[in-house]
Amino acid sequence: MITGATGSIGKAIAEALADSYQLLLHGRDELKLKELTKYLPGEHLIMCTDLSDKQSLADFCKSLKSIGSNLAGIINNAGITKDKALLFQSEADIDALFATNLRAPLLISKAALKIFNAKNEGVIINIGSCVGQMGNAFQVAYSMSKAALAAMTASIAKEVTSINPSSKIRSVCVSPGFIETNMTESLSADIKAQYKKLIPSKRFGQAKEVASVVQFLLSPGAEYINGVEIKVNGGII
Ligand SMILES: NC(=O)c1ccc[n+]([C@@H]2O[C@H](COP(=O)([O-])OP(=O)(O)OC[C@H]3O[C@@H](n4cnc5c(N)ncnc54)[C@H](OP(=O)(O)O)[C@@H]3O)[C@@H](O)[C@H]2O)c1
Repeated sequence: MITGATGSIGKAIAEALADSYQLLLHGRDELKLKELTKYLPGEHLIMCTDLSDKQSLADFCKSLKSIGSNLAGIINNAGITKDKALLFQSEADIDALFATNLRAPLLISKAALKIFNAKNEGVIINIGSCVGQMGNAFQVAYSMSKAALAAMTASIAKEVTSINPSSKIRSVCVSPGFIETNMTESLSADIKAQYKKLIPSKRFGQAKEVASVVQFLLSPGAEYINGVEIKVNGGII
């Protein structure tokens, strides 16, 4: 299951996984989701939900149950930024940001854990961000939400094996740096140039470079990767 599969990174993840898994693709726009299923190889399911709405999120979590033991992994990818100086940021924006970037992945992970516990395996992948470690001007609440996702990842990994030492459930955070997507498209040329100077690889990343890491993390070769934050950021610190 991939949340935010209609966005740049979500779509790239869907493209990377579509050959190997039947996907449950989540988004807010049914048309976009239908378009996506048309060109992906294989047969996939779609689900439309506004994750910032409490009731819709609760319904979404309930419907995850219907997939039952077929659920191999979840990718908490949907996220929003709301860039603005904290001084001018509205409470409504802050609430929307935490509801989408934090409350939703937490409750979706809880719902998935119920399914994973029954079969003793499953993978939770949270899409964080480099700004969760670095901090960033005009992204105070966003950076907080991404740092919290990394903490959630580590805490879930510790908790599942403290409850059941033989658990094979894993939780991993993938934190991209600046990726060429809708989210970074709106930055001015000046800002983009400034950021590129800070990146040892001297370029923004591609969504497919995040997707290939997610693909690996779901594979048996990644079974010993748990509770950590994997940075896909060209070396920015
Ligand atoms: N782009 C970057 O450089 C970058 C860097 C670091 C981390 N990230 C993280 O990577 C993830 C994906 O980013 P992206 O660049 O692919 O962003 P994007 O293109 O803007 O896609 C965001 C996705 O989240 C969905 N979404 C937003 N609010 C939602 C809500 N309330 N309920 C349900 N779905 C909602 C969007 O649905 P709609 O299509 O309906 O809007 C879309 O599918 C995010 O968590 C972001 O924080 C991105």
